[in-house]
Amino acid sequence: MDKTDAKQRIEKLKNWLKKWNYDYFVLDKNDVSEAARDQIKKELTELEKEFPQFVTPDSPTQRVGSALSGKFAKIRHLTPKQSLSDVFSDEELKDWEERIQKLVPGEKLNYISEHKLDGLNLSLIYQKGKYYKAITRGDGVYGEDVTHAVKTIKSVPLELNEVNGLKLSDYPVIEVGGEVFMSKESLKKINAEAATPFANPRNAAAGTVRQLDPAIAAKRNLEMYFYSISFTENSKIPHPGTHQKTLELLKELGLRVDKHYKHHDTIDSVLQEMKTWEKRRDSLPHEIDGLVIKVDSIRHQNLMGSTAKSPRWAIAYKFPAEQSTSQILDIEIQVGRTGALTPVAILKPTQVAGSTVSRATLHNEDEIERKDVRMGDTVIIQKAGDIIPEVVEVLKDLRTGKEKKFHLPHQCPVCGGQIIRPEGEVVSRCANKDCFAIHQHQLEHFVSRKAFNIDGLGEKVTEQLIHEKLIEDAADLFTLKYEDLIQLEFFKDKKTQNLLDSIEKAKILPLSRFIYALGIRYVGDETAEILAEHLTLTAKEIEVKEEQKRDQMSLFTEESKTKKVNAADIESLIDNIQKLTLETLNDIDGIGDKVAESIHEWFNDAKNIHYLKKFQRADIKLTVEDRSEKSDKLKDLTFVITGTLPTLSRDKAKELIKQNGGKTTSAVSKNTDYVLAGTEPGSKYDTAEKLGVKIIDEKAFLGMVG
Ligand code: IVH
Repeated sequence: MDKTDAKQRIEKLKNWLKKWNYDYFVLDKNDVSEAARDQIKKELTELEKEFPQFVTPDSPTQRVGSALSGKFAKIRHLTPKQSLSDVFSDEELKDWEERIQKLVPGEKLNYISEHKLDGLNLSLIYQKGKYYKAITRGDGVYGEDVTHAVKTIKSVPLELNEVNGLKLSDYPVIEVGGEVFMSKESLKKINAEAATPFANPRNAAAGTVRQLDPAIAAKRNLEMYFYSISFTENSKIPHPGTHQKTLELLKELGLRVDKHYKHHDTIDSVLQEMKTWEKRRDSLPHEIDGLVIKVDSIRHQNLMGSTAKSPRWAIAYKFPAEQSTSQILDIEIQVGRTGALTPVAILKPTQVAGSTVSRATLHNEDEIERKDVRMGDTVIIQKAGDIIPEVVEVLKDLRTGKEKKFHLPHQCPVCGGQIIRPEGEVVSRCANKDCFAIHQHQLEHFVSRKAFNIDGLGEKVTEQLIHEKLIEDAADLFTLKYEDLIQLEFFKDKKTQNLLDSIEKAKILPLSRFIYALGIRYVGDETAEILAEHLTLTAKEIEVKEEQKRDQMSLFTEESKTKKVNAADIESLIDNIQKLTLETLNDIDGIGDKVAESIHEWFNDAKNIHYLKKFQRADIKLTVEDRSEKSDKLKDLTFVITGTLPTLSRDKAKELIKQNGGKTTSAVSKNTDYVLAGTEPGSKYDTAEKLGVKIIDEKAFLGMVG
């Protein structure tokens, strides 16, 4: 075959294969046999081998690239990725409806329910319609670049379909979101061959997309369903006005959408849907752990906006806890970050709600007593959502007489320290402040994602740092030097440098995360956020470096390399927090008596102040929000102002729009969301009417910003 013929034949074979893959993996159609497909693929592979100059990256033969050499690059998401709030009962779902209805008074709400797939959320970026990047959710701001492994997923098209009469070359950058998951059958197959089986489909999917070698990922049959789209530029592809239309657009673009979505006029209809799937979930080829309910109208979604963590317009309704039985092989004691001892049942591995469970919490000594749990007992275990599995009941009829009672030890199993149980408390604790387990867990908490988020400080490293006495507490992390780290096991030049870089980068963080990192009793991430909101620190605007982007991320190169943030230092935190009396803390909404007392005590303990001052010396900076720019009620909405408003000046109106996350432009176009009109409006009013842009008066506007 000569060159010209080969080129043509390759094109033809590629197009045929793309169509076959699309029909089979996206539309679930199989009119042509797999054997025929394999034959065509073989011919294409051979031709491409002979004429390598005609191999293109979007060829179906090119899904499996070569293995990556190092760790995954961190990539900043185009828009921060959120998560969903959960509900577990009909009442909670109705409460949600009541809350969101208040945000759009008098408007009729419609919903779309979707299956909540037990997988991993991914964002895919298509540039000019071509597959470009796949990024994990990560911490919501930075994700990991898993482009290589995701390219091997057959239901991920390497090229989108052309819609709306547009050529792919006219497509803007498109970001789509969805869930990557594994069928029950594939998981079973992989687990049968694995040395350490995956506990659930989510872990299996996560482990597979993080494979450095795409050849392994390719073998594992991952699948993907898509459920969101966002355009980063003005797009000629019409923005869908409803979530249902979004799903239809995704399908038109050639992206696979789970067919189990359903439109609902009422929340009662959603409740019905939940009952149906609770009964039918086992018949699906993959695991689902509930439904996701989304407000259908995108306009309503925008008006409802988001909290710091999740959109208000969507919620996950999880299936109720699932139970199973197993046998207790042993009972172990875990020493936690606060020294609390938790008895844990070691179980014969068993399947609960799609996961393998081999440990379950017994909570504390009193609970063991109350349930009369003994080693060797057959027990009922329960798992709900992400909650740690627990032992709920002993099946006493199944006892043989060989079961053994369990007694809490008198000494800490880790350090041999004394165990105390304060009067009136159910929890026993190790009283040794230097207990290795306590130090280690505190450090793990300190570097965890919701706290300082320092990469490269896993269990092995923290263990060595404490053991080798390189650090006494978490604040000492910031004094670590190259010479300290290079001597650790498995540390070479690159790893040492990476860790030092991660530590350096972590020196500036949001105030709420710093408070959370301190590990104050009863202060979880939510309480830390509430407390941070109630502090007014003296902050200065400082310039910080943006995370280094990789070269090929041409998408992001226009972004500036530095950004300005408001930051305070630790001294300002100490000053401010010490001014808060116990009463003031108690009065804060969301902070109860016990929590207030714990916070007050912590910040008035000389030892802790000494600890905080170490952070001051390490020059840790705390970023705080600019209070004047807080709400996101008008997030992503574009306004045009025309005419004279009854009470607001034009500048004041603009300021209000900005403060609430919206923007103002001067000309009306179809991208305008609202025209805010006063008396004697100009031609903008007429244009708005012509284009069907919503026109509102000052009263309605003030209603929107509350
Ligand atoms: S929408 C705001 N739809 O559930 C985040 N999520 O608990 C957008 N998930 O991180 C999520 N099925 O990984 C959405 N049909 C579905 C989903 C779904 C599963 C996962 C997703 C998300 C997590 C939140």
